[in-house]
Amino acid sequence: MNIVLGVSGGIAAYKAPELVRRLQDLGAAVRVILTPNAARFVSPLSLAAVSHHGVITDQWGDPAKGGVDHIEMARWAELLLIAPATANVIAKLAVGIADDALTTYSVAHRTAIMVAPAMNWSMLQHATVVQNLATLRSRGVEIIDPESGYLAEGEEGEGRLAAIPAIVERVKMHRGTRDLEGKRVLVTAGPTREAIDPVRYLSNRSSGRMGYAIADAARRRGATVTLVSGPTSLEVPPGVDITRIDTAKEMLEAVMAKAASHQIVIKAAAVADFAPETVADRKIKKPADRGTIELSLRKNPDILASLATVHPRPFIVAFAAETDSVEKNAREKLERKGADLIVANDVSDTTIGFDSDENEVLILGRDGSSVRVERSPKLVIANRILDAVVARLG
Ligand code: PMT
Repeated sequence: MNIVLGVSGGIAAYKAPELVRRLQDLGAAVRVILTPNAARFVSPLSLAAVSHHGVITDQWGDPAKGGVDHIEMARWAELLLIAPATANVIAKLAVGIADDALTTYSVAHRTAIMVAPAMNWSMLQHATVVQNLATLRSRGVEIIDPESGYLAEGEEGEGRLAAIPAIVERVKMHRGTRDLEGKRVLVTAGPTREAIDPVRYLSNRSSGRMGYAIADAARRRGATVTLVSGPTSLEVPPGVDITRIDTAKEMLEAVMAKAASHQIVIKAAAVADFAPETVADRKIKKPADRGTIELSLRKNPDILASLATVHPRPFIVAFAAETDSVEKNAREKLERKGADLIVANDVSDTTIGFDSDENEVLILGRDGSSVRVERSPKLVIANRILDAVVARLG
């Protein structure tokens, strides 16, 4: 695969040589275009050395070598990846301004474009950036969303360039396997909320990111995807059919109504095991005479166990959120819940799993198989889970 990597002038430009290397690991040939501002953060010489090609920094080309070469490059390229993409370069792409080597090339480029924004969280939320990204999306440009975390300015927030393995995974998926074509996949994601009174509920820290990543990966691999989701703030992947629920009972009803028409069910949701026995119809008042109140809980329905009765029975992937004896407890859950595969994650580590961009899992099969996926972005984990499903469905 021939990739043109466009690098624009943000601090994340220093990651470009590593990105070139990881793209080469996919077997890709990479040629790099730097904006003049990017060349302040990363040296053209480093990128020339790792890419084994001259690096373009000037839209007028090198007169000694015969001048402008962006048209020849556009004939060569199968993908233009811009990472990092600044607010400035995103705005220029949206309106077609061509005033440096990268933006001039972008107008000449004829095949797929992927853009990985990186900027301060406040810039990412600015109306012009939001609108320009929407314009690019509407033209078929794939946006690789930035991550949340520590930003160069010393603040926490969304805007950090997506992790290099996540970018590489998107490129790999672009090259595309369609091994789930013709399959219907049902994914559950996010937390459930169990009401205590009109303003309070019991819930958990699930963000929905794991389940949404599976839904996204499955539809990119050709599946028709249904998502049953608890409350999250995530964007639904395009083309995915969504049913939103609040409680475990509503999730049970939605899953049972749809499961028989799906060949694969993947249960990444963190379903509350218990719900208040009664829901107060008014806000519960603080007792004047005591420092405690009692809340009586009843067990919620086990959705996984109910799936065993569905006919025709789908291929079932369960998750296991464990804090100790992870493999042993997950294997026991796999048997007890009658699933075909179980994905175990150690939720005692707060840097993975719940409400994190990354996860680290063990994928356990009924045949005794065990595959460890080291700490990776959730899209990578999602694809390894789908690989395990595809290997078993044949
Ligand atoms: O959403 P994120 O922030 O991305 O975090 C991802 C995650 C940590 C939530 C995810 O990776 C995960 O582990 N999901 C399962 C969480 C969980 O509820 O695990 P459990 O071990 O309690 O349940 C085992 C399985 O039974 C799960 O597939 C669960 O969906 C299912 N279950 C649980 C209770 C219930 N009443 N009905 C069920 O079907």
